[in-house]
Amino acid sequence: MFGLSILSAVAITIGSFTLFIFLRQVVFKPAVCKSKRRLNGKVVLITGANTGLGKVTAEELAARGATVYMACRNMEKAEQARQDILSKNPEAKLILIKIDLNSLQSVKACAEEFMKENSSLDILVANAGFGAFQHNLTEDDIEWHLGCNHLSHFYLIRLLLPCLRKAGTESLKSRIVVVSSKAHWGSGNLDYDSLQRGKHWHAYGQSKLANILFCRHLSKLLVGENITVNSLHPGVIFTDFPRHIMPVPKIFLAPFKLMTLTPLQGAQTQIWAAVDESLEGVSGKFFAGCAEASTSSCAKNEEEAEKLWRWSCSKTRLPLDL
Ligand SMILES: NC(=O)c1ccc[n+]([C@@H]2O[C@H](COP(=O)([O-])OP(=O)(O)OC[C@H]3O[C@@H](n4cnc5c(N)ncnc54)[C@H](OP(=O)(O)O)[C@@H]3O)[C@@H](O)[C@H]2O)c1
Ligand SMILES: *[C@@H]1O[C@H](CO)[C@@H](O)[C@H](O)[C@H]1NC(C)=O
Ligand SMILES: *[C@@H]1O[C@H](CO)[C@@H](O)[C@H](O)[C@H]1NC(C)=O
Ligand SMILES: *[C@@H]1O[C@H](CO)[C@@H](O)[C@H](O)[C@H]1NC(C)=O
Repeated sequence: MFGLSILSAVAITIGSFTLFIFLRQVVFKPAVCKSKRRLNGKVVLITGANTGLGKVTAEELAARGATVYMACRNMEKAEQARQDILSKNPEAKLILIKIDLNSLQSVKACAEEFMKENSSLDILVANAGFGAFQHNLTEDDIEWHLGCNHLSHFYLIRLLLPCLRKAGTESLKSRIVVVSSKAHWGSGNLDYDSLQRGKHWHAYGQSKLANILFCRHLSKLLVGENITVNSLHPGVIFTDFPRHIMPVPKIFLAPFKLMTLTPLQGAQTQIWAAVDESLEGVSGKFFAGCAEASTSSCAKNEEEAEKLWRWSCSKTRLPLDL
């Protein structure tokens, strides 16, 4: 009797697991970027390109012929990733550049180093990001999710704007792609004060909300220019992402791996946002699954977007106008 119910419990578990994976991978197929657009002669910069979605994005855009700047904080990991990509594609044009998003000084140094080499930038993918349970501050005393995931990217994008302006033309605009998340849902409006005091368990979701608000506001300021900016949700993907949340050996996460997207599947939306011809001139949108997607109402709040813009300008000592 007892043995039988254990047996059926196991059978039900395995059965529903298999059904879930079947639905995930076969019925609700992960979206794929179908564009074959080449990027010969184009320059791309990707933050957090040493692992996860950023690494796959670097590999895929380099395969299209772009020169890809891999902006990473750990140069050993970055070199390892570069070698991995080169071993599959010896033609890949990959350049390492140092950036630590916990430090505005490092962001500035990264932009300066880039501008010493190249004056034009066609595609910037703000991909790096993390989520952790602990509270901490960046080198500049900003709550670390907001600082790393939003403010440093805000700063980098503004510093590299002259390069994006130089690359974009009327018919082929340069593109800014910001990797946000559906985790912004339910995080409410940005609460700068309690974030700073470490009172927010959903600091990650708030930083991802900031990504979307920033893109919306920037897209308005860029009207009439040859630059577009969009944000997106990549999906739920088995990357190194949980390492800050659950410091457990990857083997324990194996069942989870089967239920989530691979990095290549998960990177499709950001690759699509970076290259797809149908998005020429499209700006200020939020994507998921290689399509436009809806955001929370807080992410649509224009006053909040403007407030974040002012806050970000003051923290980085940049003027309000572009
Ligand atoms: N995986 C998901 O299910 C999921 C879902 C929604 C959104 N996202 C978003 O997708 C993006 C990529 O995530 P992923 O899944 O590929 O995660 P990942 O495997 O953890 O990769 C994150 C990358 O960001 C870099 N990074 C983190 N903090 C940094 C800092 N202070 N300075 C410079 N680089 C830093 C990491 O560098 P190190 O290797 O040196 O740490 C790594 O290269 C993130 O923005 C994440 O929020 C992911
Ligand atoms: C700048 O970008 C071009 C691609 O247009 C690339 O070939 C070159 O290596 C980059 N760096 C320098 C120093 O020009
Ligand atoms: C918090 O930040 C400090 C200084 O930036 C750093 O040394 C420390 O490792 C961080 N704590 C965690 C848990 O990452
Ligand atoms: C946009 O690109 C066109 C060339 O295609 C150029 O003439 C125009 O000045 C650019 N606009 C801006 C605002 O830079």
